[in-house]
Amino acid sequence: MGAERLHGVLAVDGPSGTGKSTVARRLARELNAAYLDTGSMYRAVTLAVLRAGRSPEAPEAADVALDASIEVGTDPSAPSILLGGEDVAEEIRGEAVTTSVSAVSAYPQVRRRLVELQRSIIAEQLGKGPGGIVVEGRDIGTVVAPSAPLKVYLTASAEVRATRRGGQDRRAGRSVDPDATLLAVRRRDELDSGRAESPLRPAKDAVTLDTSKLDVTAVLARLHDLASERGLVEREVAG
Ligand code: DC
Repeated sequence: MGAERLHGVLAVDGPSGTGKSTVARRLARELNAAYLDTGSMYRAVTLAVLRAGRSPEAPEAADVALDASIEVGTDPSAPSILLGGEDVAEEIRGEAVTTSVSAVSAYPQVRRRLVELQRSIIAEQLGKGPGGIVVEGRDIGTVVAPSAPLKVYLTASAEVRATRRGGQDRRAGRSVDPDATLLAVRRRDELDSGRAESPLRPAKDAVTLDTSKLDVTAVLARLHDLASERGLVEREVAG
């Protein structure tokens, strides 16, 4: 049996705690594709704002975010995010960035810059012969790659998502208050879905999958099947 390879863009959107990152990254590995975590880009520019001592709500925050030099790596086995050349992968997952990122990602000019960067990364991957890329975020199917041949929107109840987020934090050594985590998940949902510029919502042609009762393996299998059904997976014959 030869290796499988994805063609084109597979957009994975949805709120946090739906298993998006785990599934998108693993799928990219299985399908020998690149992987782009757009949330890490919003998080990195938010870290730049905090490091500059700016309030995320102050209008100057957008200027700092626009000036921030970020680089994102697309290898699903070793995704990376650099701010001014420094590896900030761990710091951007901390509480300070997590509570501020919705405010920074609501600035239209910040979104425009990052969407442009995301599109150029996608174009570069697609330009590499028969290239494929799994892109995860909130607006991939609606704004970043509206012509993607497969768009998946993952959902799960707020309670399930808060429990998952708490588990991730605990494993990363961060302290966890379950009630506060649930409140934070709900608050971020409201901010992400309620913002004027590219609010979080499924694209009209997205396949919605509720992951509340599904484990990662089941979600992965479903996405893999969908990609195959759409003719996006090519099997490379050895020899
Ligand atoms: O997926 P994540 O939790 O790392 O995303 C962090 C934040 O970035 C999230 O609150 C919303 C924002 N985001 C966005 O607005 N658009 C994207 N494409 C990805 C993330």
